[in-house]
Amino acid sequence: MINDSKVWLITGSSTGFGRTLAETVLEKGDKVIATARKPEQLEDLISKYPETAIALKLDVTNQAEIKAVVDSAIAKSGQIDVLVNNAGYGLIGALEEVSDEQIHRNFDTNLFGAINVIRGVLPIMRSQQSGHIINMSAIAGFTNELGFSIYGGAKFALEGVSEALQGEVAPLGIKVTIVEPGPFRTDFIGRSLDRAEEQMEAYQGTVGKFLNFLENIEGKQPGDPQKAAEAIIKVVNSDNPPLRLVLGKYAYTKFRKKIESLKTELDAWEAIAANTDFT
Ligand SMILES: NC(=O)c1ccc[n+]([C@@H]2O[C@H](COP(=O)([O-])OP(=O)(O)OC[C@H]3O[C@@H](n4cnc5c(N)ncnc54)[C@H](OP(=O)(O)O)[C@@H]3O)[C@@H](O)[C@H]2O)c1
Repeated sequence: MINDSKVWLITGSSTGFGRTLAETVLEKGDKVIATARKPEQLEDLISKYPETAIALKLDVTNQAEIKAVVDSAIAKSGQIDVLVNNAGYGLIGALEEVSDEQIHRNFDTNLFGAINVIRGVLPIMRSQQSGHIINMSAIAGFTNELGFSIYGGAKFALEGVSEALQGEVAPLGIKVTIVEPGPFRTDFIGRSLDRAEEQMEAYQGTVGKFLNFLENIEGKQPGDPQKAAEAIIKVVNSDNPPLRLVLGKYAYTKFRKKIESLKTELDAWEAIAANTDFT
């Protein structure tokens, strides 16, 4: 183990952001524990980087697998410097269209999966007195889209968890960054997107419109996962990393619009809302 190289643990490394990030980090000389539900999909990475890449099986909804991955990471690499909670997927449908099972499965992966991996890795980072946790949210985790109530809701919750976590672990030498991409060219809209089984006429003008938008940009999304990987690596190497890394012009525009509308609303209601304390 070269002392100044980092050990990264990345979830959901089979395709998309996780895959591109794993490859880019390995190219730059750091060590990667790449995890996937089907680790055989990572065999080419292991062949290309036999000294620095390790592939492990991890479904983030499986607590026993999380424990086994953390134990194995420590046994093989001795440390975990960067955890990237990347595994996740979208669910599109109006709140009343999606099934109970779809709602729970989405939260289990996007929220509880990430929480459980963080809780598995924290004792290691705490004992090292160093580490960086990167949580893949989405612009929908800051300003939501119609049809993403559950997916965006899980990402909003992940952001809330991350905000408090950042303050809790900063004194322990551990950093936290939330990543908020807009549409990037990965498998997100294609094979990974879960859809409501039933589509109601009542939501065609709202949720249906957003679904059309997604289907129309599939394969033409403006975001380049390679550039996202470079940006994440810059954040990890920064002395002063941000809590939020917003990726792509689409996400930046939406983020700024939300801040402005929050401010307008806050100002408009301040006289009434601020006047509710005991006098
Ligand atoms: N691309 C975008 O436009 C976009 C925008 C905002 C946020 N994001 C976020 O970026 C992250 C990565 O997605 P992506 O865009 O790179 O899409 P992707 O190419 O579909 O990759 C998703 C990854 O998550 C994995 N995954 C799903 N459920 C899992 C589970 N239970 N346990 C372990 N791994 C699981 C998938 O594994 P399998 O191969 O086994 O299915 C795959 O490796 C997600 O958190 C997503 O919400 C993406």
